[in-house]
Amino acid sequence: FRAYFLDHLALPNLQEAIEEVLPTLKKDNVSVYYVSRTSNTDGVDTLLDKIDEVSTDPIPESWRSEITFMTPALYIYTSGTTGLPKAATITHHRLWYGTGLTSATGIRADDIIYTTLPLYHSAALMIGLHGCILAGATFAFRTKFSASQFWDDCRKYNATVIQYIGELIRYLCNTPQKPNDRDHKVRLALGNGLRGDVWREFIKRFGDIHVYEFYASTEGNIGFLNYPRKIGAVGRANYLQRKVVTYELIKYDVEKDEPVRDSNGYCIKVPKGEVGLLVCKITQLTPFSGYAGGKSQTEKKKLRDVFKKGDVYFNTGDLLMIDHENFVYFHDRVGDTFRWKGENVATTEVADIVGLVSFVQEVNVYGVPVPGHEGRIGMASIKMKENHEFNGQKLFQHVVDYLPSYARPRFLRIQDNIEITGTFKHRKVTLMEEGFNPTVIKDALYFMDDTAKTYVPMTEDIYKAISDKTLKL
Ligand SMILES: *[C@@H]1O[C@H](CO)[C@@H](O)[C@H](O)[C@H]1NC(C)=O
Ligand SMILES: *[C@@H]1O[C@H](CO)[C@@H](O)[C@H](O)[C@H]1NC(C)=O
Repeated sequence: FRAYFLDHLALPNLQEAIEEVLPTLKKDNVSVYYVSRTSNTDGVDTLLDKIDEVSTDPIPESWRSEITFMTPALYIYTSGTTGLPKAATITHHRLWYGTGLTSATGIRADDIIYTTLPLYHSAALMIGLHGCILAGATFAFRTKFSASQFWDDCRKYNATVIQYIGELIRYLCNTPQKPNDRDHKVRLALGNGLRGDVWREFIKRFGDIHVYEFYASTEGNIGFLNYPRKIGAVGRANYLQRKVVTYELIKYDVEKDEPVRDSNGYCIKVPKGEVGLLVCKITQLTPFSGYAGGKSQTEKKKLRDVFKKGDVYFNTGDLLMIDHENFVYFHDRVGDTFRWKGENVATTEVADIVGLVSFVQEVNVYGVPVPGHEGRIGMASIKMKENHEFNGQKLFQHVVDYLPSYARPRFLRIQDNIEITGTFKHRKVTLMEEGFNPTVIKDALYFMDDTAKTYVPMTEDIYKAISDKTLKL
């Protein structure tokens, strides 16, 4: 195993943040290290000098004698449907399972995997880095994706495998064509979220790269791998997997945000060709380890009494479809969460932030589709406080200060009243359908303008520029 780090681990300076919580951490006997050779904080040690001195011998067995498959190996934060980010417990079993994808796709010791996805995601960490360690392959890692640099890096480091999310491949296809587009050694691409049209364009332009699209989630107990290269699918349902893994697609009521139950109170399987919620039975072979310190959050992801009294399934929160040839297609996330630029956006979290602005009375956050883009982009419907003026600049600054770019609401809609359901949940379906078209919506509409650094009134010109893709989102 070998690793190249093509740029610095460009961590923002977190020293102040660490120093702020250090007394609390120390109280819990937590050891804190900087990934560096020097430290100017009392109580924070250095790591790199210690790594330099580490022996290359295997760790003595006695050190790991108490470690089993169920021991937590690490925690990965996910932002799920149930609100704030949660630390998913990644056990050794889960880690092993993640690296399985590397062997299933035939990655070998002489492969060089080029990754530009963040290491705090399971794709780069579990499949990329750990997969490389398992296979004895080489890991070439850049912290920041650059479309213009991508193929030069692949050529320079002789990459044979790349990792992607759908938007990344789209960015590559959007770069100007070059005569050396096919001059590289990449034979495999491994990732998820690649749409059919982009997939076709990608292999047409960059050569016959074997694309392994897969479906998985950090904490989930079910995954699919599209081994037959069916364009647009995330996998294929097969007999062997069915033997070991008990999963079903069940009828889901998007409006009520819950599975449909029959007269006996049990869930209903959808027929082939129809979209349903993916659930997977929790068993010893397909366990769900839950979230660290989040008992109620863990419980929320479990669906009980699914097909008979007492059974327990993991609720993926994903809508999928299986066609008549058993190919599996990803459809959407249910509930509050939507995906934009390959990131899950928890609407409750965004709503909490926007709700802090002085003139906002109530806010409903949802995702709307944009032609030619995967996922949905953030939009917020706002009810104004009485006798307050809308201030686009102030809201812009607040949103930029507190939210990562993929989670920021790009469009705003001012409503006199925010509709709620019988169970006091914000009604989003109609709003999502209406989108951000100024000719359809009569409410005041705003667009987040990065250049003007404010929310500007939405116009038909802006709408057209987005549709024509002259305005990039
Ligand atoms: C931290 O370590 C000290 C000394 O070993 C011990 O007395 C104390 O109980 C520990 N505190 C916690 C929260 O584990
Ligand atoms: C890539 O391959 C070429 C030709 O085999 C070799 O000369 C070069 O050193 C390799 N680059 C790296 C970074 O290993």
